[in-house]
Amino acid sequence: MNFIDQVKAKARASLKTIVLPEGDEPRTVRAAAAIKAEGIARPVLLGAAEAIRAVAEAQGADIAGIATIDPATSADAPRYAAMLHELRKAKGVTEEEAARLVADSMYFGIMMVKAGDADGLVSGAVHTTGDMLRPALQIIKTKPGCKVVSSSFLMDCPNRALGHNGLLVYSDCVVVPCPTAEELAHIAVSAAETARVLCGIDEPRVALLSFSTKGSAKHELVEKVRQATEIAHGLAPNLLLDGEMQFDAALIPEIGASKAPGSAVAGHANVLVFPDLQAGNIGYKITQRIGGAEAFAVLQGLAKPCNDLSRGCSAEDIVSTVALTAVQAQA
Ligand code: ACO
Repeated sequence: MNFIDQVKAKARASLKTIVLPEGDEPRTVRAAAAIKAEGIARPVLLGAAEAIRAVAEAQGADIAGIATIDPATSADAPRYAAMLHELRKAKGVTEEEAARLVADSMYFGIMMVKAGDADGLVSGAVHTTGDMLRPALQIIKTKPGCKVVSSSFLMDCPNRALGHNGLLVYSDCVVVPCPTAEELAHIAVSAAETARVLCGIDEPRVALLSFSTKGSAKHELVEKVRQATEIAHGLAPNLLLDGEMQFDAALIPEIGASKAPGSAVAGHANVLVFPDLQAGNIGYKITQRIGGAEAFAVLQGLAKPCNDLSRGCSAEDIVSTVALTAVQAQA
């Protein structure tokens, strides 16, 4: 069974409710029908019932039995508005502003997750990353003990000798442009958790990447990664984690053994933590486009799972992201 089929099988084992704010978007409607048919989750489509029905008909998607909620007329809207006002009044959100915000399907969906009326959220077929991330950061907030929300890309590589049977976790490739050493340490610990929960990697081996291995170069950027490694050891003393190290020292056993002798991670890493967003974003795209890996993105560190799609996504990509979100919600 390939990686994403394993994730779908896990999702089926304990059904979660996943809200899709872009409920009248054609790929989303087709995805919801497939999610229901395949028994991966209980999807909820947000939008006007009439509009959703019309899209389903045009797309030939069977949405019988799928819940739809219109934020504009929902009886839950006043409750969510009151909650949102309470949560954000210190930031200047008035009652009127809160009522206006929850009429927007993105905020309504985030409030469903916050209130426990949905287990997770997937959006981004239409909205940008920032459109979804900002309300999630403001309302859902970080998990206890985690200081920063970040992302992991789960890279399913054709070379099965790499990482965990070809699976590598890359982090952070989406969220934090220029992490501090402390933020980088939290990203590393979150990525290890993602590896456990979504990739079934019981013993994550986490490498904090740099252009230097174990002091081979001296530079303030290298020093930041070294400090992050130290902080991460303090946050998760039992985690197999090492740095700073170069990409090849992390992945290739002979190079790891020669550049970082005695390291339990070097040469055998399955979680790769990039020093900043430019490196991470470029790194995952190189692996995908030149290395032929399949890439699946998730957010990590949020108190409840919310995940972003690429605006170029297919209906099948939405199904996969819902399955990943459902498994995060199980954890
Ligand atoms: N973790 C936890 N909380 C955060 C984080 C974070 N990483 N970032 C911001 N916050 C919180 C802030 O503390 C603030 O909380 P508060 O309002 O309660 O005080 C709130 O979120 C908003 O913070 P801002 O600084 O106003 O948020 P900003 O407008 O800078 O947006 C965002 C944050 C959207 C995550 C920004 O960092 C960003 O744009 N990141 C890059 C996203 C991107 O374009 N990625 C690449 C493309 S995606 C791809 O290629 C697949």
